[in-house]
Amino acid sequence: MKQFVFLFLFLFSGIIAFAQTKAFKPGQVWYDTEGHPINAHGGGFLFHEGTYYWFGQIMIPGKRGSDAWVGVSCYSSTDLYNWENEGVAFHVEDHASHQVTRGSKIERPKVIFNEKTKKFVMWWHHDINGQGHKNAMAGIAISDNVSGPYQFVRVFRPLSGFLPFNVSEEDLSRDIPEMAMTYPFNGGELPVSADSLLLYKRDIHIGQMVRDMTLFVDDDGKAYHIYSSEENSTLHIAELSADYLGYTGKFARFFSGRFMEAPTLFKRNGKYYMINSGCTGWNPNEARSAWAPSIWGPWEEFGNPSIGKESEITFNSQGTFVLPVQGKKNAYIFVADRWNPANPIDGRYVWLPISFEGERPILRWKDTWDLEIFD
Ligand code: DGJ
Repeated sequence: MKQFVFLFLFLFSGIIAFAQTKAFKPGQVWYDTEGHPINAHGGGFLFHEGTYYWFGQIMIPGKRGSDAWVGVSCYSSTDLYNWENEGVAFHVEDHASHQVTRGSKIERPKVIFNEKTKKFVMWWHHDINGQGHKNAMAGIAISDNVSGPYQFVRVFRPLSGFLPFNVSEEDLSRDIPEMAMTYPFNGGELPVSADSLLLYKRDIHIGQMVRDMTLFVDDDGKAYHIYSSEENSTLHIAELSADYLGYTGKFARFFSGRFMEAPTLFKRNGKYYMINSGCTGWNPNEARSAWAPSIWGPWEEFGNPSIGKESEITFNSQGTFVLPVQGKKNAYIFVADRWNPANPIDGRYVWLPISFEGERPILRWKDTWDLEIFD
């Protein structure tokens, strides 16, 4: 009997603790409203009809735990502290020959809502099972309901047949150097400048490479796909078609040779901002920030937004989204992952408030904080 009383008290106190979360604790295990650690890595957020939705990669224990064995999760919250598990929004396929079969890579999923079609559209970085990151594709799924189930649309290499609009006539008339075809690219540094390789031209027929990515919907309803391309060397921004299921063909390349990963994009006072990472696999590195008067640039870098201890490794994390806080002016949260490649399911979340010094976004470590910081 005594044991049952203890068990009851233990469970009850646990429920109270989970229900009363009113603070962000970066890097600590974050439990959902049922007491399970939130499993939504490389996440993206959507605010819809008064509720925030968090979509992310479902990871499992073990070395290949960051591959997609289950799919994309969805959690909901009205206060940003307490998240309810809405289940698996997008499932991997059982059929071994399907492009999104178990063991594929479904990374950095993001969901946007299309006001015209009333559909929720999910995009992610896709790689075929067993082929590492070499396919570098985009994936799309669609749903009538925010939490899913999302139906698979396609995985593909985008923008075949199109060229970025911000390249020079001279580059367009140059031949693709042989090195662009033969160099053993490994996702990192290049022996020559990224511009000289004309990788976007190399890929014009098969489509551009898509690795780390995010989506951004502007105030006019136009949506954009921002992704690491050209063997990770250069970031592309591409305008999506009106239904958000493809492209208009308008796209541009930025930060050539800067190897920016983990792109995030947000808008503040009519200006566009990014906080991105460098490119060091699962290991954290120094973030970079930038701003522009238009999404098409010119983009100007501000340097590392992080200040203080571990600022050179973004407080041991890598960004995935900048989340605007509803109902507060110019309140933005930098949402990042603290990866754990040895046991990916134990990857943690690092949420930090963004402050500004002039126009420059700033990140400072906090052991614990809450939304009053924005008041
Ligand atoms: C860093 C990327 O940001 C992650 O999404 C993931 O692709 C890892 N690289 C894989 O090494």
